[in-house]
Formats: sequence, C-alpha cells, structure tokens
Amino acid sequence: MLSEEERKEIEEEFKLYPHKQAAAIEAMKVVQKHRGWLSDESMQDLARMLEISVEDLDGVATFYNLLYRSPVGRHIILVCNSISCYILGYNEIYQALSNVLGIRFGETSPDGRFTLLPVPCLGTCDHAPAMMIDKDLHRDLTPETIGKILEAYK
Ligand code: FES
Repeated sequence: MLSEEERKEIEEEFKLYPHKQAAAIEAMKVVQKHRGWLSDESMQDLARMLEISVEDLDGVATFYNLLYRSPVGRHIILVCNSISCYILGYNEIYQALSNVLGIRFGETSPDGRFTLLPVPCLGTCDHAPAMMIDKDLHRDLTPETIGKILEAYK
C-alpha cells in the first residue's frame, strides 16, 4: 500500500499535468524514490490512483529504462554504450566493472551494493568512455580507475 507521504507527493505531481495519466512517470519515480524499485503491489496501487490499467502502467515503466521493476542495489551504475564510448574503450570498462563486481548487465552484486545497467549516450562524448553512478558522472574512464571509483560507494 502506498504511504501517506507517497500519496501526497503524487497528488502534487497531478497538479502539474492536464490529467492524472500524464503524471504516470513522475508518480512511479516518487514510489521508486521511497522504495528503490516498483513492486507489483505498488504498481497496482499506483494504477488505481492514476485510473489506468496495471498493464498500461507497466508498459510505460518498461519503456522508461530508469524505472526498476525488480529490486536493485544501493547504487546504480549506468554504463554508456553509445558510439563515442564504444569506440573509446567501452568494452574494457564494462569488463573491468564486471570483473570487480562479479556481475553482468541487469544484475546486482551479491553484497547488494551495485546494480549494473547499460545506458544510451550520457551527453559527455568528448570525455568518453563514461558512466554514471547514482547522480555522479564519471568521465575519461580507464580500467585502472574503476576500482578506486567504486570504493567511494559503500
Ligand atoms: S557516447 Fe558515451 S557519453 Fe556520449
């Protein structure tokens, strides 16, 4: 069940849109901010609040790749796999991350610290390869710097 706080924040979002359904992404972001991910139960509650079907809401969530429909780690690593990063060392960066964390894309490290996901261009192509951890952008990456960067995230 959605908390009182979640409901209030979602109702604030409703005021910014012509109809409730248009606030679907923002409403899901509110729930994700509080719970880390969107469970089936919270999607059902949200769909009721938005007055749309769960299937339609799920369709929006699937389309938007920063909404998580399964549990994620405490930190989300988004690795850019678009063209500039790809050319300038994406593969080595991905391999270094995968080796250090022992996971592949779509997985969460066994200690629950990190979830690893691909992302389209992060808008910093002149400093490729790049990745984002939570809200922090990391640029000009090399396989050697990966371990040190990860250490900052407990
Ligand atoms: S291609 Fe990676 S930041 Fe643009």
